[in-house]
Amino acid sequence: MKIQVILGSTRQKRFSEQPGNWIVKKLQEKGIDAELLDLRDYPLPFFEEPASPNSSPTPFTNPEVVKWTQKVAEGDGYIFITPEYNHGYSAVLKNALDYVYKEWNHKPAAFISYGGPAGGTRAVQQLKEVLLELQMHPMRNNVHMPLYWSHLNDQGQYDFSLIEKSGDGLVEQLVFWAEKLKPIREELTTPSK
Ligand SMILES: Cc1cc2nc3c(=O)[nH]c(=O)nc-3n(C[C@H](O)[C@H](O)[C@H](O)COP(=O)(O)O)c2cc1C
Repeated sequence: MKIQVILGSTRQKRFSEQPGNWIVKKLQEKGIDAELLDLRDYPLPFFEEPASPNSSPTPFTNPEVVKWTQKVAEGDGYIFITPEYNHGYSAVLKNALDYVYKEWNHKPAAFISYGGPAGGTRAVQQLKEVLLELQMHPMRNNVHMPLYWSHLNDQGQYDFSLIEKSGDGLVEQLVFWAEKLKPIREELTTPSK
């Protein structure tokens, strides 16, 4: 069982890393195999393939795309750390989602969002719609961090005590569904099915 935590921002001085590192640590403290995926390590071009990954007659060959796809394939569930940019989620995250199809299928996804008064919730709602088309399973128990900049200490560190409980609820639900969906996924990918 492996949970991958995907940072939705590649911006200079991004906040994304703080909640990303926090939830990876929480997962690991609970004995769960967790890995942080930083899209800076996967510099994908803007989508330029002749077909979608679902309809392409041959697998994509761009080495960065291959590397990203193989990494996504290792995950049994995902936590998206998402900022809100102009009431949506980031372009870099959409691009990373679009490059992959079957490796996302039938896997659960949870969300940690942050931003102004709405706490990034509009970005999460948009993500949920897109993930349904990727045949993923968006979770209900998510974490939102409204006005996160009001809860930073002198070193710029967020006060994570504010969201420990909701983080526990997120992990509990995500891991439950990751465990349930894994054998179903294996059944679905059996050629005779
Ligand atoms: C292009 C851009 C658009 C933004 N639009 C919103 C917005 O619609 N709602 C919001 O709550 N915050 C918005 N913000 C503020 C972000 O919440 C804040 O900059 C946050 O730190 C971005 O995440 P990141 O630091 O991980 O990149 C925006 C920031 C940027 C850079």
